[in-house]
Amino acid sequence: MKLAIVGTGYVGLVTGSGFADLGMEVTCVDIDEGRVRQLQSGQVPFFEPGLQDLVKRYVARGRLRFTRDLGSAVRNAQVVFITVGTPSLPDGNPDLSQIESVGKEIAENLDSFKLIVMKSTAPVGTARRLGALIRSQRGPAADIEVAVNPEFLREGSALEDFMRPNRVIIGTETERGARILKEIYRPLYLIETPFVFTTLETAELIKYAANSFLAVKISYINEIANLCDALNIDVHIVAKALGMDRRIGPKFLHPGPGFGGSCFPKDCRALVQMGRQANVELSLVDTALRVNARQHQVVLYKLRQGLGALEGKTIAVWGLSFKPNTNDIRESTAIVICQALLKEGCRLRAYDPEVCAEAQAVLNSERVCFCRGPLETAEAADAVVLATEWNEFRNLDLAEVKRAMRGDVLVDSRNVYDIEMVKSLGFRYFGVGRR
Ligand code: UDX
Repeated sequence: MKLAIVGTGYVGLVTGSGFADLGMEVTCVDIDEGRVRQLQSGQVPFFEPGLQDLVKRYVARGRLRFTRDLGSAVRNAQVVFITVGTPSLPDGNPDLSQIESVGKEIAENLDSFKLIVMKSTAPVGTARRLGALIRSQRGPAADIEVAVNPEFLREGSALEDFMRPNRVIIGTETERGARILKEIYRPLYLIETPFVFTTLETAELIKYAANSFLAVKISYINEIANLCDALNIDVHIVAKALGMDRRIGPKFLHPGPGFGGSCFPKDCRALVQMGRQANVELSLVDTALRVNARQHQVVLYKLRQGLGALEGKTIAVWGLSFKPNTNDIRESTAIVICQALLKEGCRLRAYDPEVCAEAQAVLNSERVCFCRGPLETAEAADAVVLATEWNEFRNLDLAEVKRAMRGDVLVDSRNVYDIEMVKSLGFRYFGVGRR
């Protein structure tokens, strides 16, 4: 089966190399010439564990190709996956312009039947409108079918999520589209991955409903953690007990400074907008966003508890990406924390194992010093904030860190350290919702 994948971001590259690994011939398309050239030489432009090896392997074997020529990729493929970005517009609606322009270009290059599969996250109705757009350009008899196949991969473990998904959602217009996608996913079908076959609109909504539910769950545990702080209760015992209830489940109950990334905030905003446009108030999701927007302040509150006024203080920040194992800083809470600390008049020393140039561009201030390692970051700092829980920070020699610091405050916004151990080293420890 020959596939074209349009858009080489996280979803496109993981999907493309994943399908190449499953035995398909894949051509990935992007308008960015530099990116295409980089990928042709086997270089992945962002950090995702395992992806570079996979891309190199299948580029070398000729099963994975990269091009700017959308027309020839479409003409050579039976199935075209759309994996372009749908970033938030200022009003919270997603920007669908990339989907539209890809749709127009596909229409210009139709030569035989194509199944056009939307993997980009887009509001209910987008896929059907895309089909209508292509048909309006090529006449109602245009030999196409549109499908929706949302992607649930998590950055940092994207390949594992692609190869072992909890479920595959397939929304189609007809039985024919469903049959083709079932054939493409046959290797996953054989390992008993559950499949849900449904309509285009249902598949579109499932993606938003899933991401927003997880976001609500995180905001919920963050509020419980804040209450635990006030009542001197350990939130982890509460979360563990909650998770033992199979109706609740243990995942996504880890408190912290709030969720970030390219999906949760954007998708929650889009779902709220979808509700507004349908005259349905989605107040839970709206509130989850509001709770999240203020949750990073927990770090500032703890720092004030430890240091008093923050102006002029030197704060070391460990971790800048929105979560570990990625160099993505989109809507990263760590960056939001840094910006808030700069506003308070702090000096920052910052370090992340993978993020540097990207963070330097957004934290562009003479009061920020980017360091080469966690120990150097802690030098002469009044406080250290663990903002993103990379493994590198879990097993540090904290006694050495303490000696390098000027102060003794450790704000562990991800609750990874053993409280008694860090206290025994002379730190004043502040977690989120831990006694
Ligand atoms: C998410 C969804 O998990 C994935 O299915 C979807 O396709 C894209 O969005 P991702 O954004 O890569 O994936 O990261 P995820 O691991 O879900 O974490 C999102 C944010 O929530 C991070 O900022 C993380 O730190 C935070 N989080 C997650 C918590 O604060 N607590 C938790 O218990 C879990």
